[in-house]
Amino acid sequence: MRLHTVILAAGKGTRMRSVLPKVLHCLAAKPLLQHVLDTASGLQAIKTTIVYGQQGDWLQNSVHGSELDWVCQTALLGTGHALAQAVTQDELTVFSHVLVLYGDVPLVKLSSLQKMLDQAKKEAELIVLTAHVAEPLGFGRIIRDSAGVLQAIVEEQDASELERQCAEINSGIMLCSLALLQHCLPLLQANNAQGEYYLTDIVRLARDYNAKIATVRVSDALEVQGVNDRIQLSVVERYYQRRQAQALMRNGVTLADPNRIDIRGTLKAAEDVFIDINCIFEGEVQLSAGVNIGPNCLIKNSKISKNVTIYANTVIDGAIIDAGAIIGPFARLRPETHIAEAGRVGNFVELKKTRLGKASKVNHLSYIGDAVIGAKVNVGAGVITCNYDGVNKHQTIIKDDAFIGSSSQLVAPVIIEAGTTVGAGSTITENTLANSLTLARAKQITISGWSRPIKKL
Ligand code: UD1
Ligand code: CA
Repeated sequence: MRLHTVILAAGKGTRMRSVLPKVLHCLAAKPLLQHVLDTASGLQAIKTTIVYGQQGDWLQNSVHGSELDWVCQTALLGTGHALAQAVTQDELTVFSHVLVLYGDVPLVKLSSLQKMLDQAKKEAELIVLTAHVAEPLGFGRIIRDSAGVLQAIVEEQDASELERQCAEINSGIMLCSLALLQHCLPLLQANNAQGEYYLTDIVRLARDYNAKIATVRVSDALEVQGVNDRIQLSVVERYYQRRQAQALMRNGVTLADPNRIDIRGTLKAAEDVFIDINCIFEGEVQLSAGVNIGPNCLIKNSKISKNVTIYANTVIDGAIIDAGAIIGPFARLRPETHIAEAGRVGNFVELKKTRLGKASKVNHLSYIGDAVIGAKVNVGAGVITCNYDGVNKHQTIIKDDAFIGSSSQLVAPVIIEAGTTVGAGSTITENTLANSLTLARAKQITISGWSRPIKKL
């Protein structure tokens, strides 16, 4: 099959009440239109045309895909008119079929589209994707003849009382042979309640033409739920998140509550991962077997190895965490952080562009940036790397077995040699000597018999 995919996206989206074009509103942090493009990419169409109305630059700069073709529909005269803008009369040698998708119907499954393609391979010339809904108000109704063959799609405004009772609706998504479309599109008329060129009228025209018509019905109507306002957007968001949560659980992940997880990107999780409530995953996140994540964590673009424990309220962005490490609660790992095996990062600790060596610990209230820390290092409470001189960033190197006393500042660039002990409260500005004690603080003095000042009367 030589496929041409056309995505209709010219509608104004007035009900979103937004300056942002409707199809650029995000579902799981990705524009609605990008969801449609990503799904459609699984069909390897020769060309994908997006029919837009306004703000073409904004759309073109916000989505990506291969072989994209942009067509402007200057006057919104209906779905049939929109498709006619994208379908040319002379490309029969290039394309055999046209698949019509909607930019505001983001969650249609690739498997449903493939079922439509299968019908086309069985000679059907027009295939309509339908759904059963409890509340069909506003949708085009699927009217079948006594043999169950699709006879017509009747829009709400044009439907009789009896037709309105039909609970099977038109999703809007259809697949049609290009030859049939070329025949039908010029015959569309706008003599209906809305004065529009309805794409749905091609069903009647196709019947007159004796074309073979088929339908594919989705099992869950939410798959073809359109987004017209922010309430519907929230409905598809929850549906999408539920679908992802279920896929995780099927793969051996325990979710404390599948209704309280948000995946805004791709989360790959191995068996026996546990995720507590209210965690958000962004970008590409990988969790190996046995990872345990506490409540309220935000994890973005990170790779977390086996049996790592992440306690509550931890924020991780662009980090690599090796097996058995323990992070949090209330830790923040910023980009280019690498925690080696069995490393420990505790509460109110911020790490940036830092490698923490095997079994090393930074347990309380620290900022460590641009640092390379060896194995079995202990960084005491309140230690700060002074990595920024106001203009440039400098590196701190702490070698194996060093011990940094609490509340010390390490003024970079500086090297703490292996086995050094830095006394608490030191401001270290020069490299230390291995296996020795370094102190850089005022010496304690005692004045005996000193009396406190007395308040003047
Ligand atoms: C359409 C179908 C209806 C179906 C419903 C499913 C028709 C006549 N009706 O109705 O049977 O049940 O979708 O949601 O097709 N668009 C354009 N240009 C236009 C008009 C629309 O690009 O001139 C685009 C919109 O951006 C949208 C899609 O086509 O993505 C559907 O348009 P919309 O106005 O929402 O159609 P409905 O009246 O809901
Ligand atoms: Ca609609």
